[in-house]
Amino acid sequence: MAYDEACGERPRLLVVANRLPVSAKRTGENSWSLEMSPGGLVSGLLGVAAQFDTKWVGWPGVDVYDEVEKRALSKALAEMKCIPVFLNEVFDQYYNGYCNGILWPILHHMGLPQEDDNDTNKTFQTQYDAYKRANRMFLDVIIDNYEEGDIVWCHDYHLMFLPQYLKEYNNKIKVGWFLHSPFPSSEVYKTLPSRSELLRSVLTSDLLGFHTYDFARHFVSTCTRILGVEGTQEGVVDHGRVTRVAVFPLGIDPDRFIRTCKLPEVRQQMNELKERFAGKKVILGVDRLDMIKGIPQKFLGFEKFLEENPNWRDKVVLVQIAVPTRNGVPEYRKLKNQAHGLVGRINGRFGSVTSLPIHHLDCSVDFNYLCALYAIADVMLVTSLRDGMNLVSYEFIACQEAKKGVLVLSEFAGAGQSLGAGALLVNPWDVTEVSSAIKEALNMSVEERETRHRVNFQYVKTYSAKKWGDDFMRELNETVTESEMQIGK
Ligand code: G6P
Repeated sequence: MAYDEACGERPRLLVVANRLPVSAKRTGENSWSLEMSPGGLVSGLLGVAAQFDTKWVGWPGVDVYDEVEKRALSKALAEMKCIPVFLNEVFDQYYNGYCNGILWPILHHMGLPQEDDNDTNKTFQTQYDAYKRANRMFLDVIIDNYEEGDIVWCHDYHLMFLPQYLKEYNNKIKVGWFLHSPFPSSEVYKTLPSRSELLRSVLTSDLLGFHTYDFARHFVSTCTRILGVEGTQEGVVDHGRVTRVAVFPLGIDPDRFIRTCKLPEVRQQMNELKERFAGKKVILGVDRLDMIKGIPQKFLGFEKFLEENPNWRDKVVLVQIAVPTRNGVPEYRKLKNQAHGLVGRINGRFGSVTSLPIHHLDCSVDFNYLCALYAIADVMLVTSLRDGMNLVSYEFIACQEAKKGVLVLSEFAGAGQSLGAGALLVNPWDVTEVSSAIKEALNMSVEERETRHRVNFQYVKTYSAKKWGDDFMRELNETVTESEMQIGK
């Protein structure tokens, strides 16, 4: 089917991601509440869905074993065009084990954890097997819902076997795969025990997308080094078959944030926050509580700043929203304790009876309140150690039309390559550099803030989630699949 916006025909699309855009919470027997799922992938994709006749396939956020309950939840989700994959008994080894205990650290240059061979459920091999089983469960649900002509867009590191399974099932299906996280250097990727199988599967896709040129380049050179295939301008060539590899920087739906900041109740929340923090500059951090987000490094940089700048001690506050995530993975639980320890130390050192330098929250906040926080912040501090894109940076800029605050941004986030012109880029491992950037941001002249904001605001408006989806889908549509080539012969 040709993708032609002008003729009004919307291409049919199956978006397959580990998480559905809504997560279910059980409220009673056979009853559920549905909430928006966390993470950049979901917020990015929401900006895309409207342009296509889209159905979502993914994990609904809960285990459901009872068939009657499965049907009830599937019905509720169907109203939101969502189709659940009930991963149940496979979930722990697939999601906590292989996806987030093994692949996630490798993709973010953090190295493999020590294999736990005391517990047969936790060996690399059992987790790898569960990963493959889970990918097959996604395939089965797709097969049940697939209509001829549907394009299948697979997302992220959870589904690296799905392209191969889809092509084995029906070689005519057009398959795209997009990686929302970074792709590492081949030297790091090489340590993964099942390294070749995963790459070979991903390469069966018709189009592969990455956020940045660097991630795409790492991927291609990893394929050439590990599989001995050829890397070209187009992508990867294996025995004459080309897999197109291209760069599509994800964005947000900026108008949603701009509109929200204008709502009377959000303005009211902004006024209350301004009153609450009167006489102080607000530095804001909004992250999932993940090792890759560099939250301890952020606290150390802020501590250094307070140490070196006593005149700022009662004039600045760091508000850190640390959204709980992946509690089933031991590393994440350790991180929470580490973050709490640092907050306690810094508040103990620099706080007073009536004021504390860090306000640390172990929870998410609702969307309107988040926009109010973004809008009143003077500085946004993003210190990711490595990050796919970091859409929080984009969200901050979209909400800063009035204030024109400063973005201090890690050079290791994908966004560092897109928003680098307007942001103050830092190496988050260098506490002195983070401390200096905080100082520079707090002291920056209005003129400089305006100039920097203008550049980034323009970028965020232009490179939206809609553009990302359009560009990916256009390119996927133009890519000739192997089966189309065979017909053309
Ligand atoms: C990152 C990943 C997404 C994931 C999100 C939230 O953005 O790239 O695939 O959905 O984090 O993580 P979670 O494990 O809660 O889905």
